[in-house]
Amino acid sequence: MSLTRRGLLTLAGAATVAGCGRLSDGPGTGRLLTSKVHPPRFVTPLPIPATARPVRVTADADHYVLTQRVADVNLLPDRKTRIWGYDGTFPGPTLRGRRGRPMVVTIRNELPVPTSTHLHGGVTPPDSDGFPTDLTTPRGYSPAPPVQHGAPGQVHEISRDYHYPMAQRAATLWYHDHRMDFTGPQVWRGLLGLCVITDPREEALPLPRDERDLPLVICDRAFDEDGSLQYPSQDMAMHAPGARGQFVTGVFGDVILVNGVAWPRHEVSGVRYRLRLVNASNARRYRLALRAGGRRLPMIQIGSDDGLLSAPITHTEIIVTPGERYDVVVDFAGLPIGTEATLVNDFGTGGTTEVMRFAVVRQATDDSRVPDRLAAAEPPLTTADAVTERQFDFRYDEGRWTVNRRLYDPAGSLAAPRLDTVELWRFTSDFHHPVHVHLAHFQVLSRAGRSPEPWETGWKDTVDVRPYETVEVLAKFAGHRGKYMLHCHNLEHEDMAMMANFDVV
Ligand code: C2O
Ligand code: CU
Ligand code: CU
Repeated sequence: MSLTRRGLLTLAGAATVAGCGRLSDGPGTGRLLTSKVHPPRFVTPLPIPATARPVRVTADADHYVLTQRVADVNLLPDRKTRIWGYDGTFPGPTLRGRRGRPMVVTIRNELPVPTSTHLHGGVTPPDSDGFPTDLTTPRGYSPAPPVQHGAPGQVHEISRDYHYPMAQRAATLWYHDHRMDFTGPQVWRGLLGLCVITDPREEALPLPRDERDLPLVICDRAFDEDGSLQYPSQDMAMHAPGARGQFVTGVFGDVILVNGVAWPRHEVSGVRYRLRLVNASNARRYRLALRAGGRRLPMIQIGSDDGLLSAPITHTEIIVTPGERYDVVVDFAGLPIGTEATLVNDFGTGGTTEVMRFAVVRQATDDSRVPDRLAAAEPPLTTADAVTERQFDFRYDEGRWTVNRRLYDPAGSLAAPRLDTVELWRFTSDFHHPVHVHLAHFQVLSRAGRSPEPWETGWKDTVDVRPYETVEVLAKFAGHRGKYMLHCHNLEHEDMAMMANFDVV
């Protein structure tokens, strides 16, 4: 590995932030921004993002319109923060889809900057996948989007339609901005939202539902005195030498937001709740546990990134890296009224050791349960299913974040998997890199030569790759042919070119 002197210094700084001086684990690879405000904890009620309403329902699809715009909202209880949000909210409205029922989402851009929207976890045709150079520009945007990387994408002025076939398992997906070089600052400002897909099999399960089915979009941010979001640099040429300087490792905030408010509190009944945990942070990893009294409540995992597990698995903690989703059921039964249960983050320091709080305020009847069988039984993929093997090495090289020693080239491609085949992909790393693959869902085969973590089961699209570790996955290429990408989901690494294309042929 070759590191520049500057890189070494910067990355040594990251190790310190990671706590205990250990490089091997902690909040990830990044550097902490410190807020000038200290919002109170566990006071603000947990908001649930609004559900997007279709503007039109036709025989073929449900049509939605989301407008990206500037808004002043309460991320903090006592001051407004200027954000960039889908429909001016943080997170944006939740798209609720049903398996097999296509969705057409018109994204209108009323922001001062170009955008590209990606449905993370979506089995989406390539031209709707939110390729980083497929830009939607604001009205009269000038200059024309720089084609500094040699591959002009599709450019739409003001608005465009994204086609989501929804031909995939019930799962919690999320959508977010994916603009070339600027995903970090644009997601940080609020360009993210959820997409929840259901299917008849899932609907028939006796899982907690409605107000007992809570999406929890977790992200860290840092604020200035006046409530504005801090970010090292909002809008500069990212490939200029020294751009974002010491924050090349990733940006951590010291305020934890859940569904767009700082450290919320949620009143619950003494019953089961389904928590859809989503890590929408730019760089921060969490080790989550639910603490009540002196003990940790079991978290019964029912789903992974891209669908339900075949059978539930009980954990007392789960590591969630940026981009990942975990679907768990927790049970507040048997806790006396007045009990407070805190969702804690063992990887945090100071305020980031806590995420949110649940307060048991009433008893209620519970007709939900977690059945022994969830998704239809499906034998797990094995190495015998893989038609080929490939390695993708995620590494800091000569001052840049690279994949297989290359900077991202929008016109290039590192692999050409065949449609409807399975491949073994081996991810290797120097630092923490949450590796995400578009289109293909995968199963984690091994981590550092051993079994993956107990929660890394089922269908996934993002995996926590830790320093100097090898993670093997079995990826299934299904749904569409065309150009897709894999990349590091530490958004600062992504913006610093830690991405690669592959072509499904
Ligand atoms: Cu959630 Cu290509 O990203
Ligand atoms: Cu994605
Ligand atoms: Cu990375």
